[in-house]
Amino acid sequence: MKTVRDIPELSGKKVLVRAPLNEPVEDGRITSDFRLRRAILTIEFLTQVNARVVVMGHIGRSPGETLEPVYNALEKKLHKVSFVKDIIGAEAHKAIDSLNSGEVLLLENLRSNPGEIENDQDFARALAGLGDVFVQDAFDTCHRGHASIVGVPKFIPSYAGLLLEEEINALNIARTPKHPALAIVGGAKFATKEPVLHTLLSTYDKVFVGGALANDFLIGKGYQMQRSLVSNAEPSAIKELLTYDNLILPKDVVVAPEGADVNQSRISKPDGLSSGDSAYDIGTDTIDMLDELSNEMKTILWNGPLGNYEKGFKNDASLARTIANSSAHSIIGGGDTVAEIDALGLSESFSFVSTGGGAMLDFLTEGTLPGISALG
Ligand code: 3PG
Repeated sequence: MKTVRDIPELSGKKVLVRAPLNEPVEDGRITSDFRLRRAILTIEFLTQVNARVVVMGHIGRSPGETLEPVYNALEKKLHKVSFVKDIIGAEAHKAIDSLNSGEVLLLENLRSNPGEIENDQDFARALAGLGDVFVQDAFDTCHRGHASIVGVPKFIPSYAGLLLEEEINALNIARTPKHPALAIVGGAKFATKEPVLHTLLSTYDKVFVGGALANDFLIGKGYQMQRSLVSNAEPSAIKELLTYDNLILPKDVVVAPEGADVNQSRISKPDGLSSGDSAYDIGTDTIDMLDELSNEMKTILWNGPLGNYEKGFKNDASLARTIANSSAHSIIGGGDTVAEIDALGLSESFSFVSTGGGAMLDFLTEGTLPGISALG
């Protein structure tokens, strides 16, 4: 795979970079800048060699969202960066034409054009027309078949960015872990996690399933999870995964009446939920078990929260500290989990923190992603 280092004669060249800019926004400000900090690696490499850098990315899922809050944060980190509320129109072309060597221009949210998600070929061609070469650095979105991911590389010479290269190297290590190895998978949406669970159960010594995902498995074991969030997974799919003897489930859970917050919660064994209760987090016995296991491992992989963060259920913070302080090679990913780890000041203590959520899971399963294959 060719990387940004292989691009000949970068000075003065228009380099179109697809960057990971999908940050959480509240009241017009980004609440985590983890992806942005990682995106800067390639952007700075390019400005230092005097390229003219055109950065594009997406934010959120609705066409009305703007990258302006990301620009406001980027401006504090980079010199000579500007923003245009346009993507392929006259304004964008004008701004690119006046871009000097070593300067950076950020375009508006790609998803404000329906052609992005539809991978419309005219839109992809128009995007490609904004640069002399293309650099893919948005690992977090490389699992999507979108125009800026699989469309643009069809039209101009395309290369991997420095972050994309790091992600691939780190996650290849995770695909062939040093043993003993523990995988921790949380979050919700069984359908998106099912393939990776099969992969991990075949390659890791222990696989712990937590978060809302665990509820489907606990139901599969015959427990009444009452009002807990479930994915309504096919019982046969759960049954198949339950046959792996290295699959571990929570020993206890934090429960509260559905919709209540952390102050009204209690710890319960999985067979102790009352009608109206919902499981929101892992309990203390489960944390002790995971702490103990973590200290025995050579590799620990973690994707997805084990509690409902939005409602304040964050028991996995102590586990994060244990893993960060352990001697294991530790790899963590998943948007919510990473923002939380970053807020705890622990992101430097993990061996690798991935910018990918779904992309990380798909890469672990497939060993590649559509956006990586598209680079040739
Ligand atoms: C992510 O946050 O996982 C990536 O930025 C991709 O976003 P998407 O799930 O909205 O496609």
